[in-house]
Amino acid sequence: MPPAIDRSKVIIRPISSSKTEQRWVWEMVIRNLTNCVIPGLVKRTLAQLPAAAIAAPVLAFLWYVTGNAIFSVLATVIFWVVISVANCYMGIWGWEACFQEEKANLYEYYNRPKSRFWVAENAGRILGSVAIDRKTDDVAELKRMVLEPDCRGSGIASDLVKTAVEFCKESGYKELFLSTSEFQLSARALYAKCGFKETDIIRNPSDFYLTTLYVHIFRMTLTEEKIKPFAHVISWHKTN
Ligand SMILES: CC(C)(COP(=O)(O)OP(=O)(O)OC[C@H]1O[C@@H](n2cnc3c(N)ncnc32)[C@H](O)[C@@H]1OP(=O)(O)O)[C@@H](O)C(=O)NCCC(=O)NCCS
Repeated sequence: MPPAIDRSKVIIRPISSSKTEQRWVWEMVIRNLTNCVIPGLVKRTLAQLPAAAIAAPVLAFLWYVTGNAIFSVLATVIFWVVISVANCYMGIWGWEACFQEEKANLYEYYNRPKSRFWVAENAGRILGSVAIDRKTDDVAELKRMVLEPDCRGSGIASDLVKTAVEFCKESGYKELFLSTSEFQLSARALYAKCGFKETDIIRNPSDFYLTTLYVHIFRMTLTEEKIKPFAHVISWHKTN
């Protein structure tokens, strides 16, 4: 099926200072990321020992109290699914809570030197976003890359990445990096297609208590000069 949106009619522009637009864009970012990660993460949690270890005593307790094996197994499975789903949403909320300053004012947060937040817009509707966050004078992080589901497969995502990469080159950055998760298959394919190299796969430090999320680090070198990879990513890796 062809994409619902004509790429040539889409404009990519910096986010405005309108509070309504900022709230809408943040909601779009979190919703798209959550919907992409949750199914895989819930399946992983269900299959992992910590969730099973919590479910086992519940099964024993129910069986002991009711004496009904079928009821106890069914109730335990429901409990297991509920705690797995809750664990994933709590992880996402915990992760989102780390970005309070950014969430409070996207426009101001990205209106610093060498940082920027863009939205893709068509006929007044915001379809997607991407951001560049300055880490050091030489290194930037690409963040908040999302596209609404009905606009995917149209090339708009590549246009957003190109806009961000061009900005980094013009701003004099030497390295651009980003992190994505093992469950974000289209994102990983997109970054590889746009010239990023996958350099590390690291365990997410702490957000998802009962399960493990692997984070894929992608980098793009923007200079001929030989540079050391950004230390922040390496120290995160070493502690995990
Ligand atoms: C990441 C995202 C912005 C990419 O937008 P998009 O319009 O799907 O991008 P593209 O159409 O260029 O697709 C990228 C590639 O992924 C491939 N792809 C799509 N779904 C895939 C899947 N489930 N498994 C493997 N590859 C997949 C596409 O075939 C395409 O490769 P191709 O051009 O060689 O055919 C969009 O999918 C999205 O918003 N996802 C949810 C949020 C997210 O994960 N954001 C990334 C944060 S790091």
